[in-house]
Amino acid sequence: MSPEVQRAAEILKRGGLVAFPTETVYGLGADASSKEAVARLYAAKRRPADHPVIVHFASAQAAFEWARDVPQAARALAVRFWPGPLTMILRRSAKAGDFVTGGQGTVGLRVPRHPVAQALLHAFGDGIAAPSANRFGQISPTTAAHVREDLGKDVDLVLDGGPSEVGIESTIVDLSGPQPVLLRPGAVAAAMLEEALGTPIASRQEDSPRHSGGLERHYAPRTPAKLVPTHELDPQIARLRDKVAVLAFSRPDERVDYWLRMPREPVAYAQKLYAALRELDSAGCEMILIEAPPEAPEWAGVRDRLVRATT
Ligand code: TXA
Ligand code: MG
Repeated sequence: MSPEVQRAAEILKRGGLVAFPTETVYGLGADASSKEAVARLYAAKRRPADHPVIVHFASAQAAFEWARDVPQAARALAVRFWPGPLTMILRRSAKAGDFVTGGQGTVGLRVPRHPVAQALLHAFGDGIAAPSANRFGQISPTTAAHVREDLGKDVDLVLDGGPSEVGIESTIVDLSGPQPVLLRPGAVAAAMLEEALGTPIASRQEDSPRHSGGLERHYAPRTPAKLVPTHELDPQIARLRDKVAVLAFSRPDERVDYWLRMPREPVAYAQKLYAALRELDSAGCEMILIEAPPEAPEWAGVRDRLVRATT
């Protein structure tokens, strides 16, 4: 094990905060069994205390100790998708304190597959609470540099594992009720979950448990941003007098000050999305126009983040 990972595990044991790479986005980690450590985590994120955090584990076996009445569906999804970009909401066991569940009867569990995350989880040996390593409501970090820009001195150590491979946060599926419910779309698509479970998945209802990803505006740049259908992009650009930045599939337009061209394929698009939003946000424009992605199901994760960034 690398000395840095060892040091990171020791910092966590002492109640400190360690940012670490996962395949989705960077997480800000704290000892999930320590009320004080999790309180520091919330303070660093400036996150309201009633929002639950995801607890990360090295293996499904370790994760399920934090849950009770683990349904067969959860075991099936674990076999198929863990380690990987999937979070399951299950009824909590006594190990999951109110301070990680936001006082709810359920807990969010995930086994990430990034090798540095795996090494850290093995070295630490128990659950690590980790929301995305950004301030509450802002764009999630997909590089170690993003974390340092956002959190600066508020984090004791940042482990650098390169750019995140997936680029958007994990899929969240709630298995605590009578029927599986998709709370947040991500790289593990609803169709993949349905195939693995052999049952349909419902989409989030308005009254499902609080989760910050469920707030309307989230993952948001500071610059006002607007989602624009492809056929409206050109007329909108023609009408605007402000300095504008554009995120689009097509080639740059010379009337526009700052243009980023995105891949026409959802996996590659997701990987670049947050770095692109950060870049456009710091370009000093009055407005960011974002070309709407296709309506197809494989774009659900990207579309969800773009809608939130522009609401
Ligand atoms: O990809 C990810 O999931 C990243 C990496 C670091 O693992 N983490 C992440 O955490 O996105 P965070 O805290 O930014 O978003 C986690 C979402 C929040 O919307 C939270 O409220 C929800 O999961 N959540 C956690 N526990 C929950 C629970 N018991 N019931 C409902 N939602 C829950
Ligand atoms: Mg987050």
